[in-house]
Amino acid sequence: MKKFIQLTCILLISLTTTSPLFSSEEIIKGRQEIFSKNYNTAKAVSAAIKSGDNEKAKELLEEVSKNFNTLLKYFPEDSKTGFDTEALPAIWENSDEFVTLMQNASSNALMLAKKLDDDTADITSLEKELLWNNCSACHKKFRLKK
Ligand code: HEC
Repeated sequence: MKKFIQLTCILLISLTTTSPLFSSEEIIKGRQEIFSKNYNTAKAVSAAIKSGDNEKAKELLEEVSKNFNTLLKYFPEDSKTGFDTEALPAIWENSDEFVTLMQNASSNALMLAKKLDDDTADITSLEKELLWNNCSACHKKFRLKK
């Protein structure tokens, strides 16, 4: 039994060290899917705000925030090329800046959710500043222009 456990451990260790758990294809396609989902969610936030459904907007903003956090894990070194990625090398050359922009995008979404409760806030400009400006701020430096 002891031998069996030892063998299983060795097998598991060698499996996880020789083959990455996720292929670069899964990573790249995975992040593209999350970005497009986040785009739709962000559009739904704007629609909810426009129709005055702040509760719905807050729920959606939490989702946007979580998605940006998840995306931080989707840029490993071996996912720089292939599968029509629009990710620029600058991501890995200036990874601190990239990570900061992603973290800001995540926390700004939550900040906007909080502001929705503030009757004196100018929501139209905050929506631009705290939701949509994050996208262009990152894309202009880190995403290939088509
Ligand atoms: C911190 C950086 C960053 C932020 C913030 C960001 N993006 Fe992106 N986005 C990227 C990168 C990098 C790609 C390219 C991913 C790839 O092709 O591998 C991308 C790709 C996309 C795509 C294309 C996905 C596909 O199917 O290929 C869409 C749509 C998109 N982003 C929308 C948005 C929207 C909307 C926002 C804001 C709400 C946003 N992004 C915020 C970096 C960012």
